[in-house]
Amino acid sequence: MAGDPRPIGVFDSGMGGLTVLRALVARLPSERFVYLGDTARLPYGTKGAETVQAYALQASRLLLDQGVKMLVIACNTASAVALYLLQEAWAPIPVIGVIEPGARAGVAATRNRRIAVIATEGTVKGGAYARAIQRLMSDAEIVQQPCQVFVALAEEGWTKSPATRAAVEHYLGPMFRNPSAPDTLVLGCTHFPVLAGAIREVIGGAVALVDSAETTASAVAEALAGAGLNSEAEPSGERATRFFATDSPERFARVGAVFLGRQIDPAFVELVDLRAL
Ligand code: DGL
Repeated sequence: MAGDPRPIGVFDSGMGGLTVLRALVARLPSERFVYLGDTARLPYGTKGAETVQAYALQASRLLLDQGVKMLVIACNTASAVALYLLQEAWAPIPVIGVIEPGARAGVAATRNRRIAVIATEGTVKGGAYARAIQRLMSDAEIVQQPCQVFVALAEEGWTKSPATRAAVEHYLGPMFRNPSAPDTLVLGCTHFPVLAGAIREVIGGAVALVDSAETTASAVAEALAGAGLNSEAEPSGERATRFFATDSPERFARVGAVFLGRQIDPAFVELVDLRAL
């Protein structure tokens, strides 16, 4: 067969990475994907760097066992602490993270050079976003705000509940009512795009709301083309994706649909245990 038909491996702590998978499928319809949500060990955002690195190694091992040709770390927290580790461990398999693409999206959107980043505790603590933005725009003013509770709200599928609205107001209301507020908000956690409606209500219509999904899809497309790894198969639609979860496939399929924007057939979600890998 022409091209490289092997799938692309994508992982996250849970369902957040499905927001990235959605953009990948739209951008690369001829590719097949294998997605892993480490739902049993979520959240990653409250854990230390060494723990997240160990989890990321195990998650990527499972995907490599599926014969993937490329890995996408669809988790900012894991990208922040494990990107270089995985790149080194799995060379020559290309490994792509979401921080650099998210930073690029933020820099492309800002006009007043003030950029806010909301992310998990771990991502904010490590400062990877601030460094990535500063590399691209050295005079950018960056405000980072951990919003770990958003992960739980998103995993619960509470995209529009009063509790979500109150949490968004708590974290973002004061920041965006300030006259010298940032004009750009980077969703530095792949769980957050499903809360975009509630976030928009609080920050108002003038602020650019960006995430790393589209820019990561572009980075993956470039990397595939650059390495000559594109599949030339006919687009095969929804069945081209296989799902793995480390807990409750039924829940993964039910709530995952909110993140992926389409139904997930529970029969296509396989339960796996990463602990022995
Ligand atoms: N979705 C993940 C991220 O992008 C992590 C959420 C979590 O497990 O805390 O950071």
